[in-house]
Amino acid sequence: MQNLFRPVALVAALTLPMIAQAQDQATPAATMEITGDVKKGKKVFKKCKACHTVKEGKNKTGPSLYGIVGASAGGVEKFKYSKSLSESGLVWDVETLTAFLTDPKGTVPGNKMSFKGLKKEKDIVDLIAYLHDAAQG
Ligand code: HEC
Repeated sequence: MQNLFRPVALVAALTLPMIAQAQDQATPAATMEITGDVKKGKKVFKKCKACHTVKEGKNKTGPSLYGIVGASAGGVEKFKYSKSLSESGLVWDVETLTAFLTDPKGTVPGNKMSFKGLKKEKDIVDLIAYLHDAAQG
């Protein structure tokens, strides 16, 4: 008789962790994960300041980066983008921004941003937090 209980225990042992895992995964997918340090990101932004502002509508050599996290590429009004960027179809989330800022020319070939890219991933994580924060208030 004892043997009858074994399969039940086995099924429970297999399905319970699976349910717990599914619940764990539901949260990060729903919201974008911004984990960087805003203050440090502001310092990293010094490398971008020659060409970009975070003020709405204020373009320089590069477009305003106000609200860029979550925006579609090439979406700033009155900025004359290259065809490569405006037709890239990209949406700037954490993943695409990280790729672009690591290697601008490799990620969007033919774009006209003269910047070689950032080497440290931590700098990019912090920078994204700053860009996200700058559009909040
Ligand atoms: C030498 C000037 C220059 C520097 C420095 C520079 N950029 Fe740019 N950036 C540009 C130009 C010009 C474009 C538009 C490119 C195009 O249209 O092909 C651009 C485009 C972008 C875009 C896409 C914007 C959109 O509306 O789709 C992002 C994001 C961006 N830059 C982020 C940065 C960040 C962050 C830094 C600093 C780490 C930086 N850039 C440094 C000139 C620059």
